[in-house]
Amino acid sequence: MSALPTKLETLAIHGGTPVREKLLPYGRQSIDDADIQAVVEVLKSDWLTTGPKVAEFEERFAAQVGARHAVSFSSGTAALHGAAFAAGLGPGDEAITTPMTFCATANCILYQGATPVFADVSPDTLNLDPGEVSRKISARTKAIIAVDYAGHPAALDELGQLAKAQVQGGRALLIEDACHALGAEYGGKCVGGIADMTVFSFHPVKHLTTGEGGMVATNDARLAETLRRFRNHGISSEARQRQESGQWFYEMVLLGFNYRLTDIACALGLSQLGKLSANLARRREIAAHYTAAFRAVPGLIPPTVRVEANPAWHLYPIRIDLAKLTVDRGQIFRALRAENIGVNVHYIPVHLHPYYRDQFGHRDGECPVAEAAYERLISLPMFHGMTDGDVEDVVRAVGKVISPYVK
Ligand SMILES: Cc1ncc(COP(=O)(O)O)c(C=O)c1O
Repeated sequence: MSALPTKLETLAIHGGTPVREKLLPYGRQSIDDADIQAVVEVLKSDWLTTGPKVAEFEERFAAQVGARHAVSFSSGTAALHGAAFAAGLGPGDEAITTPMTFCATANCILYQGATPVFADVSPDTLNLDPGEVSRKISARTKAIIAVDYAGHPAALDELGQLAKAQVQGGRALLIEDACHALGAEYGGKCVGGIADMTVFSFHPVKHLTTGEGGMVATNDARLAETLRRFRNHGISSEARQRQESGQWFYEMVLLGFNYRLTDIACALGLSQLGKLSANLARRREIAAHYTAAFRAVPGLIPPTVRVEANPAWHLYPIRIDLAKLTVDRGQIFRALRAENIGVNVHYIPVHLHPYYRDQFGHRDGECPVAEAAYERLISLPMFHGMTDGDVEDVVRAVGKVISPYVK
C-alpha cells in the first residue's frame, strides 16, 4: 500500500477539487445514547457533585489502569497542579520536564512557585531523553515530569531510576503526564501504576471524555490523600462522607482549590470507560493503516514505536523530511488544510512560548532535538470515531499533497 497517486493532481490550494467537501477535524469526541442516558440519570438524582458517581468512577478507573488509587480533578491541568503539590514542589525547587508538550505540563511547576528545567527529547519518540535528564539533575530537583508524547509511553524505567537515585536533595518523584496515553502499555503494564503519580485528561479529543476532567493515579495512599484534600479546598473530609456519618465538623488542613469533578461528568466518564478498549483498538488500527501507507513515501517519516511500548495513539504526528522536499512544513500544512484535512501541530516547544522567553530568558537552541522536530511535525486526524473512508481520505490527501513537492 502506498499513499502516492499514480499521476499528479491539481492541489486544492491551487484551485483543484479538495479531497473532502467538509473539514475532517484532527480529533473529536464520540458520544452515544448510553452516554446521554447516564448523564440524564444523574441530573435526576440527588447528587450533581461530590456524590456517588465520583467514587465509582475513581474506583473503576484505578482498576482499569492498574493503580491502587485514582483521584479525579476538574481538568488534566488541575490534576497536574495537584500532582505538583503532592510532590512537594515549592519555591527554590526544580522539576525537570520536556519541551515537547502542551504548556500545562510545565505550568503546573510554576503554579507551585518552583522552576521548570527543560531537558531535550529523544529523536525517535520525542519523549524526555533520560541522558539529558541526568545532565540536568541537581540537588534542587524534586520531580521529573515526563510526557507520553502522542500516547507513546516515556522511558519510564530509566526515568524512575533517575528519580530514585536523586538522593542528594532527597528522592525526586516521577510524575507521568499521560494525558495522551490512557490505555498505553509499557513493558506489558498499563500506564497508571508505574510512575509515582500518573496524570490523565478527559478533554473531548482524548480517549475518554467528561467534557473537561482529569485524574491522578497512584499506588501511594499518602499521595492519594493529599490529592483528595488539595482538590477540595484542603478540607480533611468530603461533603458526602459528612452527610453519611451525620457529622458537620470539618477542618481545612492545607491550602487547596475547588478542583472537583462533578457527578454529571463522572457518569459520562463511567459510560465512556466501558468503551475504552474498543476505542483504543480502533486508534491502533488507524495508526497501523497510516504507517503502512506512509512508510515508503519519500519525504515522510511516520512515528517510531519502541519494542517495550504499545502506544495509545492520542495523536498521529508525522514528520516531514525537509531534505527530500522542495517546500517547508507550512506549505504542506496549508495544502492539507485546503484539501479539508484538519491537520494540526503538536507542539511549539514550551520554552519558546513568549511567556517562557520573557519571564525566564529561554532561547532558541536550548533543546535542539525538540526544536528541529517542531519544524517538521504535522498531526494527522486521529480519533476513534473515524470511518474507514475518513482514513482513506487522509492517506489520499497526504499522497496528493506530497507528490508535487518531492525533490
Ligand atoms: C500533554 C498534556 N498535558 C496536559 C494537558 C491538559 O489537560 P486538560 O486540557 O484536561 O487541562 C493536555 C491537554 O490537552 C496535554 O495534551
